[in-house]
Amino acid sequence: MKYNRIWNFNPGPAAVPLEVLEHMHDNWFNYQNTGMNLMEWSHRSKEYDAIHNETVSLIKKLLGLGDEFHVLFLQGGASTQFAMIPMSFLLDGKTADYVNTGSWSVKAIKEAKLFGNVNIAFDGSEVNYIHIPKQDELKLTDNACYVHLTSNNTIKGTQFLDFPDTGDVPIACDMSSDFLSHRFDPKPFGIIYGGAQKNLGPSGVTLVILRDDFFKTARSGITSMLSYGTHVDKNSLFNTPNTFGIWFMNRVLKWMDEMGGLAAMEERNRQKAHILYGFMDDNPDFYRGTVEKDSRSWMNACLRLPNEDLEAKFVAEGKAAGFNGLKGHRSVGGIRVSMYNAIPPEAIRDLVEFMKDFMAKNG
Ligand SMILES: Cc1ncc(COP(=O)(O)O)c(C=O)c1O
Repeated sequence: MKYNRIWNFNPGPAAVPLEVLEHMHDNWFNYQNTGMNLMEWSHRSKEYDAIHNETVSLIKKLLGLGDEFHVLFLQGGASTQFAMIPMSFLLDGKTADYVNTGSWSVKAIKEAKLFGNVNIAFDGSEVNYIHIPKQDELKLTDNACYVHLTSNNTIKGTQFLDFPDTGDVPIACDMSSDFLSHRFDPKPFGIIYGGAQKNLGPSGVTLVILRDDFFKTARSGITSMLSYGTHVDKNSLFNTPNTFGIWFMNRVLKWMDEMGGLAAMEERNRQKAHILYGFMDDNPDFYRGTVEKDSRSWMNACLRLPNEDLEAKFVAEGKAAGFNGLKGHRSVGGIRVSMYNAIPPEAIRDLVEFMKDFMAKNG
């Protein structure tokens, strides 16, 4: 492969499009004939400002967001959002609903409980997180401040491809591991957040999308850096943002746009899931999926082999054959194939060939 690269199935930080790496490389020493790298420019310079504002516009374009949405670039990862959201939006005497579909939801719930009443609207731990709740499994509170969801469960490999109906209650959604991977209607979402390090570029930038009417429900008196108002008022330039990460994200978004936007990402991700899960379903005695079929993630496919020795052999031989990052999360074991936007269908076809060969030798 070009530059001796290999297929990278890491769960995050994860693969980025080669075209983006090439662009960064070509612009590294002398950004647009300015004689400097963009990272060496002030975050208040016109050179950086152009990239900053263009990145906001690209997010809005790709997601089809109207003027009622604010786009913010924060720091501290999704993990800081777990706390910032209830700190601002879980109001005194009211309740927030949390849907528990895996360990990232559990972390969000733990933070929310520090700030107020939390109702667990669905407890996936009772079914070992093998499925995403159907509408009638959700026990929603009337008049909740928000309903929190984790759209894609990176560790267990389940995903909401359609979102539940929460009526007038805004959805607060952790989209860390499937941001911009398929089309959806953003209107029911009060806030969407996620780290960039899976679908959007390098670690260190947290993308937050905030609907204005929900934003206006935030409690006041919160310390500046943890208050959404600070960042909305200053267009994410209250303090020094991660200029490198935002520049990199800008290029990833341009790549998505040039590829055909979210419709194209969706088609690409559907194809990859179809190839991999189709092969697993044809060989269920050797490659056993770990979650219910209609809850399967298009981003992270989790599977088991007949025993742990074979799994270790699969990971080691896979790596030697040029397939990196196939080991399941340490809390669940097995195999995990993370196939974010940057992974082309060709990578999954190559992986399936390797899987066929491995099964023939070890089955
Ligand atoms: C779904 C999900 N939420 C949250 C996180 C934590 O994100 P961060 O490391 O940006 O705080 C991750 C990290 O993998 C994740 O996959």
